[in-house]
Amino acid sequence: MRTLTMDTAASPFRAEHARILRAHERSAVELPPGEALRERYDETVRVAAVHAWRERMVNEHRSAAVFAGLVPQLIEASSTIDVQTVALRAATDEIYHATLCGEVVRAFGGEALATAEPTLMKMPEHPGLAALERAVRNVTFVGCLSETVAVALIAEERELADEPFVRATLDRILPDEVAHARLGWLYLAHSLPALGEGAAGRMGRYLRVAFAYLERREIDLLPLTPPTIPAELRAQREAVGLCEGGAARSLFYRTVTEVIVPRFEALGIDAADAWQHRGEN
Ligand SMILES: [Fe+2]
Ligand SMILES: [Fe+2]
Repeated sequence: MRTLTMDTAASPFRAEHARILRAHERSAVELPPGEALRERYDETVRVAAVHAWRERMVNEHRSAAVFAGLVPQLIEASSTIDVQTVALRAATDEIYHATLCGEVVRAFGGEALATAEPTLMKMPEHPGLAALERAVRNVTFVGCLSETVAVALIAEERELADEPFVRATLDRILPDEVAHARLGWLYLAHSLPALGEGAAGRMGRYLRVAFAYLERREIDLLPLTPPTIPAELRAQREAVGLCEGGAARSLFYRTVTEVIVPRFEALGIDAADAWQHRGEN
């Protein structure tokens, strides 16, 4: 395993890192004193918050690698440079989100430190496809599927989060996730006509695989209701940004069928059929 820490105290790039975040208007959220949170929340809720926000820290950081991995494919696809800037910017956003999640961990008494898997999944190469179609598929997976689901889940968590600094954290993250999803939908709509005959049909067949992968991954990642938190502490759990697991899963399925599928269909891609036959060849 590798170590992931949000602590930059000993790094020579600390000031540069802070300067870049400031230039992007990425400010830190002011944290309440630990004592106030200890009074406001039951210990089981604080422990669950540390655990959940640490997982989010790892996931957000992993997303930085995903967007960074799209950039070489966009370059190979001769995309316009604005798309490359947006993808690179998204990678920086995800690092910033990881630091914000680390701050929430700290506020609830944990360390912004985690172990994470030693190697990352590589961006699929889709052998046999031209560079443009390869880039479109991967940008579509990341923006139209992953990030569109993230927008729905984070919007829901934000709705429930009554704790002001948790809500302020989600307020900073949400508009970025909206921009990340937009990258997918705009790039797909813009590039589809250039992919030649049969492109919509090929995308539909790809979506059978992509939907199956998305479903497996989201069901794995989606927060389980922390089993240690008794039902009467539900309001406290929601206040610190922890959704109920079953509700998060049904929100995932609604997002696919009510948001994602119709948007593909509007582009002439038969995503309803792909969702119904996900995982089949
Ligand atoms: Fe993010
Ligand atoms: Fe994102």
